[in-house]
Amino acid sequence: MPKITIDGTEIEVEKGTTVIQAAEQLGIEIPRYCYHPGLSIVGVCRICLVEIERMPKLQVACYTPVTDGMVVHTNNEKVLQARRAVLEFLLINHPLDCPVCDQAGECWLQNFYMQHGLYDSKMFEDKVKKQKALDIGPNVMLDSERCILCSRCVRFCDEITETFELGIFNRGDHAELLPYPGQELDNKYSGNTIDICPVGALTDKDFRFRTRVWYLTETPSVCPGCSTGCNISVHHNDKRPYKAGGIRISRLKPRYNPEVNQWWMCDEGRYGFTYVDDDSRIVAPQKKTRGRWQELSWNDAIDEIANKMKDTIDKHGAEAFGVILSPQMTNEDLFAAKRFFKETLELENIDFEVAAREKGYEDDFLMKADKNPNTEGAKKLGVSAMDNSGLEVAQMLAEAKDKRLKALYICHHDLEKGFNKEEVKAALSKVDLVIFQGTNQNLTSNLANYCLPSATFVEIDGTFTNFAGRVQRIHKAVEPLGESKPDWIIFRNLSKRLGKSMPYFEPEDVFNALVEEVDAFKGLSYEKIGEHGILLDGHEESAEKEMGALVA
Ligand code: SF4
Ligand code: SF4
Ligand code: FES
Repeated sequence: MPKITIDGTEIEVEKGTTVIQAAEQLGIEIPRYCYHPGLSIVGVCRICLVEIERMPKLQVACYTPVTDGMVVHTNNEKVLQARRAVLEFLLINHPLDCPVCDQAGECWLQNFYMQHGLYDSKMFEDKVKKQKALDIGPNVMLDSERCILCSRCVRFCDEITETFELGIFNRGDHAELLPYPGQELDNKYSGNTIDICPVGALTDKDFRFRTRVWYLTETPSVCPGCSTGCNISVHHNDKRPYKAGGIRISRLKPRYNPEVNQWWMCDEGRYGFTYVDDDSRIVAPQKKTRGRWQELSWNDAIDEIANKMKDTIDKHGAEAFGVILSPQMTNEDLFAAKRFFKETLELENIDFEVAAREKGYEDDFLMKADKNPNTEGAKKLGVSAMDNSGLEVAQMLAEAKDKRLKALYICHHDLEKGFNKEEVKAALSKVDLVIFQGTNQNLTSNLANYCLPSATFVEIDGTFTNFAGRVQRIHKAVEPLGESKPDWIIFRNLSKRLGKSMPYFEPEDVFNALVEEVDAFKGLSYEKIGEHGILLDGHEESAEKEMGALVA
């Protein structure tokens, strides 16, 4: 393995490592624009120039492989002067847009200029004008004047999505990044081009002019949009909520996880969070009286619902009760639900799967047809009809229609997605007691007698298990909206009211109880899961599948 000395420190690295990567291993950050670890190396922006002893000219750090005995200087006067010159060149035609540019605060042109800039301009000529505020796709706006032609976005579309929408046209200082004629930047991963654009040339329609980035706080989480479970950061506006018109979550960004999604996420997941602050959120327990919804306190709701559930079971038996859990719920929520319904109430008709009528989009990269983040978790926890020798969801609806089922407890599902509207109506209207527990109103909640408000994934701590058997943590970014509560707390409170306490105070208590009881999770803890997740035993092969999509 070659040894290299960078700024006086020696390091041994793998053969083929480039100077920029070796420096990174030493914690030395060499500025970069065109270099991105997930894309091919082109060496076009020249901001990463370094001095290598015994070489006559400065060398491009992102392109130069390390050789044994190499001595590199990343920060001497010669290098700093070159950086200043490159920045001066990049800024010749760059507009003075920072005060109105969404990238301000996370812009690498601003950042490196502050570190290395030539603060007194030598330029008197007019800047070359290019196209601004160009709508180039459903999610992305382009400001050509801001573009520094690093080609990251072009390489993303050529190498990662292989959709080839973007190119660099014309020459010299008239060179311009644009979609090919007649093309739109409309691939299913287009938002990633915004993330990797080092300047404010590509901005997000969903985020433009909404807030300045320095008002945002980041919380690590996992996308609930499908069973891949891409790692994400939730960016929330805690510092100026009064300017955000009730929108607490400003955007989702991919978070690097080498095993799951690397640097990327899909647009469906990226823009799929708006329900969190939507007007359709259920924000208090509710009861329907003579066709009208009426709010209840949690105490009254728990009392009434617990009593009615018990009465139904006493009168008609456990077989007259159906429970539909959801793979949208965390492992902790499902485990507490199982304890409540199976152990406290001794019910058997428990299921969680509702096959979607329309198959979800799937590809061989990240997106999965199963649009739930925890199907694998639900299977491992044994909350399917098969595990409980009870009725499946479709059978529950059939029994309901025939008036054999007297009560239904439905968590999160919009049953209309799996069955036709009339079928759902016909079934639910025949049941005496329908309880809906979930985040937002839908057809199913409208047909219920009681609605209990659940917190959303950005309002809770917990874990999901992805399709490959990787258990990953989600973290609370904002407080539960209104009176909403994590599902496991609702089940704990109902269980207590029926005389069986669950000694859980934090989601970690639920997780630890789950680990004790469910073999598949044996030996796990929140600490062991860490920020990149951990594979359940016996899932090593699926890990290869996870990686397969990323390296194919
Ligand atoms: S739009 Fe951004 S990512 Fe694309 S070439 Fe220009 S600066 Fe680079
Ligand atoms: S691929 Fe799935 S998990 Fe990843 S961002 Fe898209 S919806 Fe979310
Ligand atoms: S980062 Fe090395 S040339 Fe652009």
